[in-house]
Amino acid sequence: MGQVTYIENCGTVHETDIANGQSLLDGALSLGISSMPGACGGDAVCATCHCIVDDEWSDKLNDMSEDEFFMLQSMDNQQANSRLACQIRMKDNLDGMIVVVADN
Ligand code: FES
Repeated sequence: MGQVTYIENCGTVHETDIANGQSLLDGALSLGISSMPGACGGDAVCATCHCIVDDEWSDKLNDMSEDEFFMLQSMDNQQANSRLACQIRMKDNLDGMIVVVADN
């Protein structure tokens, strides 16, 4: 279990606890964050869960799959710490993680 903070571009901040193994998209959906709708249901084919991971946690994440990599490459607003929230699984060392919800 770990806490995640989501910061939307409008400035709204959301926090929730996510069980280990659940995705950051699962947490966003449980909070009803409308700017992270997760349109494809977590299959890494829509990028509506695009987020920017704070530097402190970016090195602790699981490696990116090819699907995630190519999906992010197709985004005009990709940044160095861009990830798809549906591909990030909670684990103990991610407790306290902060992500910015990207404009999609
Ligand atoms: S929910 Fe579609 S790519 Fe993450």
